[in-house]
Amino acid sequence: MIWAILLLVLLYGVITRRRRSKSEPPLDKGRIPWLGHALEFGKDASKFINRMKEKHGDIFTVRVAGRYVTLLLDPHSYDAVISDSDSLDFTKYAQVLMERIFNLKLPHEQPAKAKTMMKSHFLGVNLPTLKSSMGRHLQGLLKAELPQNQRDWKEEGLFNLCYGLLFRAGYLTLFGGEQNNNAVDPSRVYEEYKKFDGFLTKLARGTLKTEEKKTAESVRKRLWDLLAPAGLNEDSASSPWLHAYKQLLQEDGVDEETQRKAVLMQLWATQGNVGPAAFWLLAFLLTNPEALMAVKREFSQISQMETSEIFLVDRSVKTPVFDSALEETLRLTAASFITREVVQEKILPMADGSEYLLRKGDRVCLFPFVSPQMDPEIYCQPQKFEYDRFLNEDGSVKKDFYKGGKLLRYHTMPWGAGTNGCVGKPFAISTIRQFVYMLLTNYDLELCDSKAEIPEINTSRYGFGMLQPEGDLLVRYKPRNVH
Ligand code: HEM
Repeated sequence: MIWAILLLVLLYGVITRRRRSKSEPPLDKGRIPWLGHALEFGKDASKFINRMKEKHGDIFTVRVAGRYVTLLLDPHSYDAVISDSDSLDFTKYAQVLMERIFNLKLPHEQPAKAKTMMKSHFLGVNLPTLKSSMGRHLQGLLKAELPQNQRDWKEEGLFNLCYGLLFRAGYLTLFGGEQNNNAVDPSRVYEEYKKFDGFLTKLARGTLKTEEKKTAESVRKRLWDLLAPAGLNEDSASSPWLHAYKQLLQEDGVDEETQRKAVLMQLWATQGNVGPAAFWLLAFLLTNPEALMAVKREFSQISQMETSEIFLVDRSVKTPVFDSALEETLRLTAASFITREVVQEKILPMADGSEYLLRKGDRVCLFPFVSPQMDPEIYCQPQKFEYDRFLNEDGSVKKDFYKGGKLLRYHTMPWGAGTNGCVGKPFAISTIRQFVYMLLTNYDLELCDSKAEIPEINTSRYGFGMLQPEGDLLVRYKPRNVH
């Protein structure tokens, strides 16, 4: 049997032998027939891509599980990919992932309509309501976690603390509804979601073992059931965006089961990144006393001005030091791929004047984590957390960064770019700001071991949004006004 498979793989290799033409990017197929570089890519995409960059430069094509993927790593040339939606299609690969991760197939025009609808809810006049609802839920959950009269420290892993609180508050704000007393317990949704999240990258790559597949499918099914009531409330004032989303699905003839699957996808898109981002920010601050002091100083000036934490929903309250620390955090830990499918042959013009032919049927992938975000030509000591990296000497926001002497249009890209960029960016930033403010001003928060270091990154998650730690960072916290 094994011999038969090997023979088939070899035959496949011979039949589908691909050679590089002169006008194409350097081709690196890897030694293993069909699989190519898939194993190395899946284990640590950043390390692999850096190795290939050393070998081939800023553009190259690799074979990954039967597909040919061209990696482009020159940020000056990114626009040629991002702005060409005729030759380079976003939806095809997104649909592949949707099906693999969520077992979901949606009508073709649906995602575009949904995006327009979400923009109106997450970016428009509804944003202040969302922000203050989030603030209230965060405050309520934090108080329930640790009542004001509690005198003892509570110990917890920082990742679990951040992800758990932000997920539950986000769920209540966007999925649970304000007045919905019958809403499913957010902790149950979080517990199931965490399990699902653990399978995410393997689901996306189709590499689950039989037993894991069974568990992943049953967790996914439990989440579909838990999410069934979300957005169904007669009163569309609770979760209005979800109400509108479900209506859109219904208008497109999407059945109820598929609607639940689509709601799980939205849970992932809206809740999967904020908790991990807040974790990394607090982890960097707690392990960098100077940065922590600077952010606390900025917050304390604000807290003297105002009485309520809810003030942070107000955009006019400026927090440049916090903003810089957050941007620096995202530079170091936001690691999405921007992937497009080549639907018609394209000549890709590079910023240095060279041109490369992209073959129809291949994929093109930008990995902004490697460049611009971790590029030593752009950032001095790119591995290091410097909270004020995005501040000028006069305290104003620093936006100008250069590569090869040329100003960069994109110096960090945690929110994606172009038509499929994040529609939740302002809400996400406001949420993290409220959360970090609440923790740092109303609570004493410190490392259990003052010498503890930032945990390692889980390297299998490169390409899937915010990175997550391997293990956790133990912290303790208690309400500040109790001595
Ligand atoms: C730190 C937090 C966040 C980060 C780093 C982040 C990042 C991203 C990125 C990179 C994408 C593009 C994904 C792709 O290429 O397919 C994206 C899409 C999206 N994000 Fe966020 N996001 C965050 C928080 C949020 C929040 C809080 C919301 C909801 C209010 C949200 C809603 C969405 C939605 C709906 C999409 C899909 C847009 C589309 O249809 O193309 N995100 N996000």
